[in-house]
Amino acid sequence: MSNLFLLISLLSLLMFHCLIITSEIFPFCYGQGGEWHLLQPSVGISAMHMQLLPNNKVVAFDRTDFGPSNLSLPEGRCRYDAYDTALKVDCTAHSILYDVETNSFRPLMVQTDTWCSSGAMSPNGSLIQTGGFNDGDRAVRVFTPCDANSCDWVEYPGYLSQRRWYATNQILPDGRIIIIGGRREFNYEFYPKNEDPYSTSSGPFWLRFLLETRDESENNLYPFVHLLPDGNLFVFANTRSISLDYNHNRVVKEFPPIPVSDPRNYPSSGSSVLLPIDENMAIEAEIVICGGAPRGAYTQAGRGNFVRASSSCGRLRVSDENPRWVMEDMPIARVMGDMLLLPTGDVIIVNGVECGTAGWELGQSPVTRPVIYRPNGSLDWRFSVMSASPRPRLYHSTAILLADGRVLVGGSNPHRYYNFTDVDYPTDLSLEAFSPPYLSVEHRPFQPQISSVNEILMLGQPFSLTFWVPLYLSDDVLSVRIVAPSFTTHSLAMNQRMVVLKLVRVSHLPPDSHNLNVVGPSTAEIAPPGYYMLFVVHAGIPSWGSWVKIQ
Ligand SMILES: *[C@@H]1O[C@H](CO)[C@@H](O)[C@H](O)[C@H]1NC(C)=O
Ligand SMILES: *[C@@H]1O[C@H](CO)[C@@H](O)[C@H](O)[C@H]1NC(C)=O
Ligand SMILES: *[C@@H]1O[C@H](CO)[C@@H](O)[C@H](O)[C@H]1NC(C)=O
Ligand SMILES: *[C@@H]1O[C@H](CO)[C@@H](O)[C@H](O)[C@H]1NC(C)=O
Repeated sequence: MSNLFLLISLLSLLMFHCLIITSEIFPFCYGQGGEWHLLQPSVGISAMHMQLLPNNKVVAFDRTDFGPSNLSLPEGRCRYDAYDTALKVDCTAHSILYDVETNSFRPLMVQTDTWCSSGAMSPNGSLIQTGGFNDGDRAVRVFTPCDANSCDWVEYPGYLSQRRWYATNQILPDGRIIIIGGRREFNYEFYPKNEDPYSTSSGPFWLRFLLETRDESENNLYPFVHLLPDGNLFVFANTRSISLDYNHNRVVKEFPPIPVSDPRNYPSSGSSVLLPIDENMAIEAEIVICGGAPRGAYTQAGRGNFVRASSSCGRLRVSDENPRWVMEDMPIARVMGDMLLLPTGDVIIVNGVECGTAGWELGQSPVTRPVIYRPNGSLDWRFSVMSASPRPRLYHSTAILLADGRVLVGGSNPHRYYNFTDVDYPTDLSLEAFSPPYLSVEHRPFQPQISSVNEILMLGQPFSLTFWVPLYLSDDVLSVRIVAPSFTTHSLAMNQRMVVLKLVRVSHLPPDSHNLNVVGPSTAEIAPPGYYMLFVVHAGIPSWGSWVKIQ
């Protein structure tokens, strides 16, 4: 008996070390580079935009004016569109619904052009997608998930007051969605609109900051937007950033410009995350922005000169009195990377290229290795380079976090139409998943499994949840986190946020279950209403996420 106990202790000690030591030093820890799996060689469209829904299905779409895709619309349906610039009659799909659990997909029907649009999940679980190009630039499209195979897009073509091509969306504490900017749009508006026809509270509201931050090619598109715990919006365009009181259309504060003056927004697309907001300590908010491309890189790339991308990351603790950027260097330079919060609170940077910028044919030297950034790691192991995917993901590629902890990756089409021949980087129609190191088999003994949790969480209200884990280490290595699913396109995961919930009490239910008393997020500014994935993290290993709804 005591021998067995010793063996288990020794084993757990060894395995725990794998969490903090890389495989080079300690060969016992295999799987430290993560693993790539091809899910679908072709879903028929190129996943330029993706959103995970609370039923673990993913809506993906590209654009209607790409010409015929490789997926037919069902029942002989066709899209008749006199405005389409590629095909007036198109019997192929440009949107799909991918089912994570069964690894299958079906075509969806979208009528107006969704190219370079934006989106957010409404608090009721419907995806609200806004804008696009051409006949779709003022459209709102709603996708409401269903269990049957019948649900599809519902479109409201003239809903928006302005054209929204390359705009950014953010869900707000009152459940509305703000839509900011877009090409040559220096303003913002809201969805839904105020129903009162005489009201001006739906916008558009002028935002001079967007006009001021344009570069020589009129580009500062897809501004980075994060809802801060004080209720204001962090808005970042190229090198400058502000805190915006959107209710009073007032800039509360301008932050210092990011040093290393490389622009970070489209087409110099870096990426951005709001680090986890931790309710177990005084509330802080910190932004990390990584990658981008030097000024002029877009024009240079157009002339065939592919300038090296930026390798710097900047961190700004916006909740400080006088925030200052702290700069760090990534092991690989990258433009068009996607930054996603992993359930552990670490950040994965995936997709993109080392040279050039976003735009048609403007990227070279794909970076196929993701990098994991540990915001709290000691400086010598902040960044870890992961295994390479066999598939380059350039312009128009995407990534989203799944509830099972994997990262779904798709898209890549730097060409004006679908192009599979005579090009360096053919249009990619595949879906792949990256399993970060925490999913490798040697960590299974530490992986918690949630056995029960409330489906509805109330702001500031205590709740309890139960989980089970084969090898329990200690109360000190436990946390409970909620993650909002992102709408990802063009290197920006809109609406993504993580809140580390206040953990009040841990109790043990022999033989191997544990009960946690946790408190729901304290305010709607910290966690706006809607669906989140809840993870229990034990010794750096997350459970699968359970969907919860915050009211
Ligand atoms: C898409 O269809 C075209 C034309 O039939 C074919 O040449 C191409 O290989 C297909 N691409 C993929 C990725 O399936
Ligand atoms: C959610 O709200 C939107 C309006 O914002 C509506 O179109 C949609 O039908 C609603 N979905 C559900 C599931 O009620
Ligand atoms: C970093 O450490 C702080 C303080 O220990 C903790 O509250 C926070 O959740 C940690 N962040 C991450 C990303 O793990
Ligand atoms: C694909 O790209 C090649 C090289 O630029 C071009 O010649 C060809 O016309 C393109 N094909 C399509 C379908 O656009």
